[in-house]
Amino acid sequence: MNGVAEVSSCSSSEIERAVALLRRGELVAFPTETVYGLGADASNPDAVRKIFAAKGRPSDHPLIVHLADRSRLDEWAASVPDFAWSLARRFWPGPLTLILRRQSCVPDAVTGGLDTVGIRVPNHPIALELLRAFGGGVAAPSANRFGRVSPTCAAHVREELGDRVDMILDGGPCSVGLESTIVDASGDAPAILRPGAVTAEAIAEVLGFAPSLPRSGSPRAPGRLASHYAPEARVDLVEHGQIVARVSDACRAHLRIAVLATSPPAGLDRETFVFIRLPDEIEAQARELYLALRAVDRAGCDLAFVELPDETGLGAAVADRLRKAAGRG
Ligand code: TXA
Ligand code: MG
Repeated sequence: MNGVAEVSSCSSSEIERAVALLRRGELVAFPTETVYGLGADASNPDAVRKIFAAKGRPSDHPLIVHLADRSRLDEWAASVPDFAWSLARRFWPGPLTLILRRQSCVPDAVTGGLDTVGIRVPNHPIALELLRAFGGGVAAPSANRFGRVSPTCAAHVREELGDRVDMILDGGPCSVGLESTIVDASGDAPAILRPGAVTAEAIAEVLGFAPSLPRSGSPRAPGRLASHYAPEARVDLVEHGQIVARVSDACRAHLRIAVLATSPPAGLDRETFVFIRLPDEIEAQARELYLALRAVDRAGCDLAFVELPDETGLGAAVADRLRKAAGRG
């Protein structure tokens, strides 16, 4: 489904244009290894407000500040605990966001008025080139309309935002495909707020103990709204072995049905559903999950059935996004 390789560079004139736009307070979408981000100068509140307008996102939802490397961390975050430095050293650049106490210079527009700030050093050559050339922090949420599936290629950004974004840097398809792991490092004990490709197991190895896992909390915490990361179609999670019965019931209700699975379910008439294949391997499943959810809408389906994967390692992140797509996050 996603056979095209990551694009590892842009022309220097494209980077220069992107930097000039950021400096003027405009929006630039850029690739990261996780998903595409919609970037603005994090030190410019007016520029940051344009992100919320373009996405249709409530202004109290905090944004992640992207930096070129961890040496700039102290400019944005205060009293960074030792365990957070250990995680930064091990996983940056990479798909990890740390929530830290903010420095007073971080605009409220970025943090939604919270006294913490999310920071990440992304691992994509184009993102890093842009961040180095810009020099400052770039505030960027995923480059989709609020509540919808994150874009994993430049065409999806265009589909989501049209001309509400001034420039899109094309880095090809994202190699991870799911948003970064978010670790709250603002308190005494690290807690995973959003699972991602930096797995709980990998974090535990660095810390020497297991971090606490997501629990239900305030709607400000990542993806805690009733429906997030969702296609237009309804997504229904099915227990193993129930797919045939569920599809048959839905057919009687005259719904157009999609089945997302690694192989087509046996015992069903192929005319009765649209089969959207998920790769067997969990890394590839993560990479292609949002493509599959977009395919459900493209096929004009009302309802998609999918089984949760095994929730160890990266499977926890895939399962988390599927629950959120199903409105059960
Ligand atoms: O992989 C990613 O993290 C991508 C790429 C572009 O870096 N970004 C991304 O941003 O997913 P966004 O805004 O779509 O999701 C970030 C989540 C939001 O749900 C937000 O609530 C949470 O991070 N967040 C940001 N700052 C926070 C803070 N200070 N406290 C708690 N949650 C925070
Ligand atoms: Mg998002």
